[in-house]
Amino acid sequence: MRVIQRYKGVLVTLIIVVLIFYAYELDDEYLETVGELLSIVAGEPINSSFPITFYQSAYVDHRFDPPRLRIFTINKCLKNYQFLLADLHFNVTIHLGSRKVELNVEKIYKKATKGITVCLQPVYYFSHWQNILLFIEAWRAQGATRFIVYFHSATKETWKVLAYYRDLGLVEIKHWPSFPSFPVDIAYKYPRIDDSVLRNAYFLAMNICILDIKTTFGTVPDFDEVLVPTNGRLLDYAIKEMAGTKVGALIFDNHYVSFTPNIYSANFSGVASPKFRTLAWPSKYVFNASVIDIAQVHVPDSFTDPSMISIKADGALLHFRYDAESKNLTTTEKPYRFFPDNHSTHIKNMEDTAKKIFNGVIPKFSSKSNDALHECVNKIMKSEDKICVSTGGLCKAEMDKVEDWVYAKSEPLFLIAI
Ligand SMILES: *[C@@H]1O[C@H](CO)[C@@H](O)[C@H](O)[C@H]1NC(C)=O
Ligand SMILES: *[C@@H]1O[C@H](CO)[C@@H](O)[C@H](O)[C@H]1NC(C)=O
Ligand SMILES: *[C@@H]1O[C@H](CO)[C@@H](O)[C@H](O)[C@H]1NC(C)=O
Ligand SMILES: *[C@@H]1O[C@H](CO)[C@@H](O)[C@H](O)[C@H]1NC(C)=O
Ligand SMILES: *[C@@H]1O[C@H](CO)[C@@H](O)[C@H](O)[C@H]1NC(C)=O
Ligand SMILES: *[C@@H]1O[C@H](CO)[C@@H](O)[C@H](O)[C@H]1NC(C)=O
Repeated sequence: MRVIQRYKGVLVTLIIVVLIFYAYELDDEYLETVGELLSIVAGEPINSSFPITFYQSAYVDHRFDPPRLRIFTINKCLKNYQFLLADLHFNVTIHLGSRKVELNVEKIYKKATKGITVCLQPVYYFSHWQNILLFIEAWRAQGATRFIVYFHSATKETWKVLAYYRDLGLVEIKHWPSFPSFPVDIAYKYPRIDDSVLRNAYFLAMNICILDIKTTFGTVPDFDEVLVPTNGRLLDYAIKEMAGTKVGALIFDNHYVSFTPNIYSANFSGVASPKFRTLAWPSKYVFNASVIDIAQVHVPDSFTDPSMISIKADGALLHFRYDAESKNLTTTEKPYRFFPDNHSTHIKNMEDTAKKIFNGVIPKFSSKSNDALHECVNKIMKSEDKICVSTGGLCKAEMDKVEDWVYAKSEPLFLIAI
């Protein structure tokens, strides 16, 4: 197969992530990023004076007919006459004027393995390890078979919980290191990508992750979010509603949850009888992984087949934010539960697992590092220049003062042209 084709941007789907003019908010609403198909006939190729960094892999996505080449980048907005010049051999070479960058190519096909894959956004300065235990056990009980976790930084306790599930073969930890700097001749003109990357990375990681899914269903929740149907198990419910239909995603409305006693100060006994608090917050969803094209945080952006639709699910997004109690919201009764059966068995299992992970000495939770993170972010938000803010780069010095963090191994995940 010695096919050498010169693509003048025609089949290149770029996930354009706007680097500049981005304000940080802690727990987000919608990301205003867009996936765009560029079909450019005439124009100007971008060169190395354009600030752009590439995810190391390009994808040939055979879920589209004809197959589509997809390249993921972080960059400022392109004008509609600008395009990327690329050669496609067995890998992809992007030409940026006299500089170039080479990406390896992965092929994507429809998914056949029964199950749900859970994609998690880069974990930044994460300290609520209890969330992860409840999250993984509840999702497993709902039919999840694989968890893909992008990892930047966390406490040692959090890392231990992740490593435990990694060793069981359930969690795949993918290191999400710092981003490289731009070439020296343009670096001084732009903010460091690493200082502005948290929310952008969230969107990028989610979309790379969904291409890596091998199961029929996927989902993109946070570590404090579990999707449950009103009756039965999520996997069975998803098959019933989606298999062989035009339904590409099921959307679950947010339900803010608190536990008595809470899972940070005591044990998991409160999980059996969650309290629901009224607060409008956006949805999350489970999707058919053979047809999802671009994922947004709260709803799918598009499907490979435009006739696919999303529908509202008969169920709930159980959102157990660490600060639920402090909000003093009205509590209501709802029928939703984390596990489809046998709560006492699952609760005992979570407690036994915590004891096993921590050799019998359950670490006391401290809000110290979480408070430091909020303090740092608030300081940034108050400053004059609040574009391009993120906890990834800007808070590192502050965060290193309060805790001995486990950081991602640095691997060249993102490439710039040289
Ligand atoms: C690179 O592109 C910019 C903007 O399109 C242009 O102004 C500049 O002359 C180009 N540089 C080279 C070396 O071609
Ligand atoms: C890309 O492919 C070319 C030709 O097959 C090969 O020489 C080169 O090493 C490859 N580069 C990468 C990064 O895989
Ligand atoms: C996913 O979508 C495809 C294409 O519409 C459909 O054939 C398949 O049955 C769906 N799979 C599941 C598990 O819902
Ligand atoms: C869980 O914690 C609560 C509150 O501290 C306590 O009353 C209860 O006995 C504990 N349950 C177990 C099984 O340890
Ligand atoms: C919580 O809400 C109730 C009813 O609205 C109010 O009476 C009470 O003062 C509030 N407590 C706090 C700590 O805000
Ligand atoms: C529920 O828990 C009980 C007691 O631990 C156990 O005997 C039973 O097999 C469990 N049922 C299921 C469906 O897991």
